[in-house]
Amino acid sequence: MNKKEDEFMKILVTGGAGFIGSHTCVELLNSEYDVVVVDNLSNSSEVSLDRVKEITGKDLKFYKADLLDCDTLDKIFLKEHIETVIHFAGLKSVNESVDKPLEYYNNNITGTINLCACMKKYGVKNIIFSSSATVYGEPAVLPITEQCPKGTPTNPYGMTKWMIEEILKDIQLSDNSWNVIILRYFNPIGAHESGLIGEDPKGIPNNLLPYITQVAIGKRDYLNIYGNDYDTPDGTCIRDYIHVVDLARGHVMAINKLKENCGFKIYNLGTGKGYSVMEVLHTFEKVCGRKLPYKIAGRRKGDVMASYADASLAKKELGWEAIYDLEKMCQDAWNWQKKNPSGYQ
Ligand code: NAD
Ligand code: UD1
Repeated sequence: MNKKEDEFMKILVTGGAGFIGSHTCVELLNSEYDVVVVDNLSNSSEVSLDRVKEITGKDLKFYKADLLDCDTLDKIFLKEHIETVIHFAGLKSVNESVDKPLEYYNNNITGTINLCACMKKYGVKNIIFSSSATVYGEPAVLPITEQCPKGTPTNPYGMTKWMIEEILKDIQLSDNSWNVIILRYFNPIGAHESGLIGEDPKGIPNNLLPYITQVAIGKRDYLNIYGNDYDTPDGTCIRDYIHVVDLARGHVMAINKLKENCGFKIYNLGTGKGYSVMEVLHTFEKVCGRKLPYKIAGRRKGDVMASYADASLAKKELGWEAIYDLEKMCQDAWNWQKKNPSGYQ
């Protein structure tokens, strides 16, 4: 896209220093958008934004600020002439949310309400929100379409996604000049192929891919596989893993949809293909060139047996589809881990 006056748009990216946010900043800058990041760095490092600049050769504006700090947020909106918001900022650890529900509800829900109140005050009415397949709970149908009824998330983190979707729906209902796109991510993994940005979990990773890469680099002794007695071909759970760069591109396509004054929309972002834990492990082993130790552990509480998307609506309405396969996701995750054994530190 050429940067023309009439197409000019300044995008506020909340949580832009994080895993998905940083990859999305790359895609936005590559598409000639102006990017303003607000992040409190509670789960990220400003180094990721330096790397974004290195990858793209372009600049962005960064505010170290908390969505719970209304005064600072107000000043940012006053200063920057924001036209669209991509809202990634939130706490995302399922286990931690069970221990700290108040912190999760406050950060994720109050943070979103503060953001939307500011948007309303400054007449900014375009928002893309990071939701999750977790809102489907135990899915009623497979593959999961957007028509599939929302289920009951098994933890406060999932509930915040569930509730924020409803809040945004009500805001758009109250004023139909708002455009709201909810993106329900399946399982984002991988990293930018430069190996400069990637996922940098603090402490022991909860999620499968970061755990596998840490076993491969020697930080963890073995992978625990949470259950091999599910009713699936090899007994392990099935998920729809999606390359984070594909996911990031989905946000750029969603901005184009906002420009059509789309109202309220929900899209699944997944590949449509499900892989078992074993298949992911074996694909990663192929990429890193050796067998990795694992143990079969008991089932993890709250896990669903299988979850994969019907992503045809995003293809039809956004013109988006995932292009990278599981091997590429593993290659890029491994490249990032090898180049950054201690993450951004
Ligand atoms: P992340 O933790 O890497 O990024 C979130 C960012 O938000 C971090 O940089 C953090 O510092 C920031 N943040 C948190 N609370 C904030 C606040 N109050 N004010 C300002 N900044 C704040 O996580 P991610 O994996 O990039 O996820 C991005 C979004 O996508 C999150 O909302 C997450 O819940 C959602 N999501 C992620 C996944 C996944 O598997 N990674 C799946 C589904 C949905
Ligand atoms: C989890 C969250 C989901 C959240 C998403 C963010 C739960 C129940 N769900 O999804 O709400 O939106 O992360 O990315 O936590 N596995 C292992 N060993 C491990 C880690 C995972 O076997 O060390 C298995 C899990 O049992 C699961 C699969 O790998 O079958 C994927 O797990 P994970 O990466 O944590 O993602 P989800 O559980 O799908």
